[in-house]
Amino acid sequence: MSKVAFITGINGQDGSYLAEILLKKGYSVHGMIRRSSSDGTLDRLKDIEGDIQLYFGDMSDSVSLSNIVLKISPDEIYNLAAQSDVGVSFISPSYTERINSLGTLNLLEIIKKHKPICKFYQASTSEMFGSSGVKIVNEESVFCPVSPYGISKLSAYWFVKYFRNAYGMFTTNGILFNHESPRRGSNFVTKKIIKQACEIIVKKREKIKLGNLNAKRDWGYAEDYVNAMWMMMHHSIPDDFIISTGKSYTIECFCNMVFNKLGIKIEWEGEGINRKAINTLNNKIIIEVDENIYRPLDICHLEGDYSKAKKILGWEPKTDLDQLIDIMVDAEMIRM
Ligand code: GDD
Repeated sequence: MSKVAFITGINGQDGSYLAEILLKKGYSVHGMIRRSSSDGTLDRLKDIEGDIQLYFGDMSDSVSLSNIVLKISPDEIYNLAAQSDVGVSFISPSYTERINSLGTLNLLEIIKKHKPICKFYQASTSEMFGSSGVKIVNEESVFCPVSPYGISKLSAYWFVKYFRNAYGMFTTNGILFNHESPRRGSNFVTKKIIKQACEIIVKKREKIKLGNLNAKRDWGYAEDYVNAMWMMMHHSIPDDFIISTGKSYTIECFCNMVFNKLGIKIEWEGEGINRKAINTLNNKIIIEVDENIYRPLDICHLEGDYSKAKKILGWEPKTDLDQLIDIMVDAEMIRM
């Protein structure tokens, strides 16, 4: 009999890659989606080969969660559903907390009651480290979240540990650093820059407006990272692991790499909110800062040490930032 996996947030970037991997491994894959009035909710799932069972539900609705768990009796749950936009969490903090923290707690309570042997993966995040001042963080580093998103995810992280320690459940936190792909939502900075840079190439746009250009992030490839989720769930002991590349770059540096790939030489001038990049081909502004995009608080530097995952799970990132940009730019140009 094939194993039954339940993925919340199956139609997101990570959910869609994970569904593909699990189908290839012979799992019966079930996923929860929210009802939405907009089209395109299932876009990331439409080209996946294999049968995925979808159910309407919501992390804030325990009834929907328990109905799904009772119906499918999963062997493994991957909790990827979240209000995952850090910027939006400053505007909707209470919603973010309800979905990310209370939703996770509700799901854990449901499993404890109905199927305590079900394994549970939690999409934890590097945002939990926030602005602790530690340059390269590991699983022992102090947490110091600076956004409602980071706070909600840290609360969920502790619930995951609590169910493991108090009730002996197999619950694991994957502390993933930023991970990108052609399936990334265009509200996130890498996809926004690549999509809009490609629009400039095909003359659909003149410039890109960005917020904090100095933030440094540790960007990996989502497909690599989703493999790590499965590996954590199949390690003999439930534990928490950082998944990262161990290298970080500023947003400005990311812009340089993207335009370099597209064959446009840019030159930067000005400082702070007056910083801008000029297209040397026509001397026009191609990137400018919009202070409305700044967050009330932002993390200056996020970089993770993945040596525990390497040592214990045998996981390593396979794709560097150059390769990731190639993958994303090529996919975006095809869509233009
Ligand atoms: N989104 C966005 N849009 N970010 C911008 C922009 C812009 O126009 N301009 C500058 N930035 C900066 C943000 O201020 C932040 O410092 C950085 O770019 C990265 O922003 P995002 O791509 O939105 O990602 P994130 O780091 O806030 O969060 C992502 O990674 C986390 C893992 O650490 C999300 O995927 C989270 O859900 C995830 O947990």
